[in-house]
Amino acid sequence: MSYGLLKGKKGVIFGAMIETSIAWAIAEAAHREGAQFVLSNAPVTKRFGNLTKLSEITGNSPVIYADATSDEDLKTLFEETKSHFGGQIDFIVHAIGQSINIRKGLAYTELDYENMHKTLDISAISLHRVIRASLDTEALADGSSVVALSYIGAQRTFSKYSEMNDAKALLESIARTYGYNLGKRKIRVNTISQSPTITVAGQGLKGFDAMFEFANRVSPLGNADAASCADYTVSLLSDLTRMVTMQNLFHDGGFSSTGMSDELILVLAEALSKDEGNLG
Ligand SMILES: NC(=O)c1ccc[n+]([C@@H]2O[C@H](COP(=O)([O-])OP(=O)(O)OC[C@H]3O[C@@H](n4cnc5c(N)ncnc54)[C@H](O)[C@@H]3O)[C@@H](O)[C@H]2O)c1
Repeated sequence: MSYGLLKGKKGVIFGAMIETSIAWAIAEAAHREGAQFVLSNAPVTKRFGNLTKLSEITGNSPVIYADATSDEDLKTLFEETKSHFGGQIDFIVHAIGQSINIRKGLAYTELDYENMHKTLDISAISLHRVIRASLDTEALADGSSVVALSYIGAQRTFSKYSEMNDAKALLESIARTYGYNLGKRKIRVNTISQSPTITVAGQGLKGFDAMFEFANRVSPLGNADAASCADYTVSLLSDLTRMVTMQNLFHDGGFSSTGMSDELILVLAEALSKDEGNLG
């Protein structure tokens, strides 16, 4: 069902690659709510992504590839976006993340710093680059909304999330600080801290299934899926949230406010009793 929340709004959505990408669901929801947008992803995804399909099902959205760590690419992207729409845009969605050290299987205590620089650049500094390029090209309108996707690893250590804990902390700080700097233009910048979600980035993590199940059993509402994350994102892109900025907003079924749940106690009690049986 459409509420027409984004009717007349134009934007750029970064990070949709295949059907499971959270940004894919966001693009579908934004289209449903009446927005028009450019889809963007790293040039390497041309080979294995499915953006042509997403473009078709969202009203022939233009696809402009850009490496989010390249200021040159981003400048070209926003210039082309401006000329496509014949004016400024009203929103940006940043759904970009990748850890080079996790991909290479290096433990947190043995990080390669070249890799770590790349991880921070792709997953966090790119938000700064994206906003800056949109301002330098005068593509971002007053009163617009920028949303980036984060994870609770920014506040609390999740062992297997490794350097991405640090990347998300930086991402959220950039959102706050840029949000402050753009307040006078009524541009708001927020992050959504999403539940573990079954996607390429999510499943690239060793122990992801356990993290997913743990969160699902701790959260009173269960894990939030990509479609509900997309709906929440739409609300932040809409005028209904025009006074919300510099926030990290948990979209996690209540996980961030729950210490322990009955459901998890039951599972652990059962596992522990089996353990004791084995020991005996
Ligand atoms: N999946 C989860 O469990 C989960 C939970 C919380 C937050 N998030 C965040 O959601 C966002 C989207 O991730 P996802 O889970 O949909 O996975 P995904 O792998 O589908 O999306 C990540 C995207 O980042 C893009 N990307 C990587 N390097 C890039 C670069 N240099 N330039 C431009 N784009 C680049 C990838 O091509 C990909 O499309 C990420 O920020 C991720 O950290 C994911």
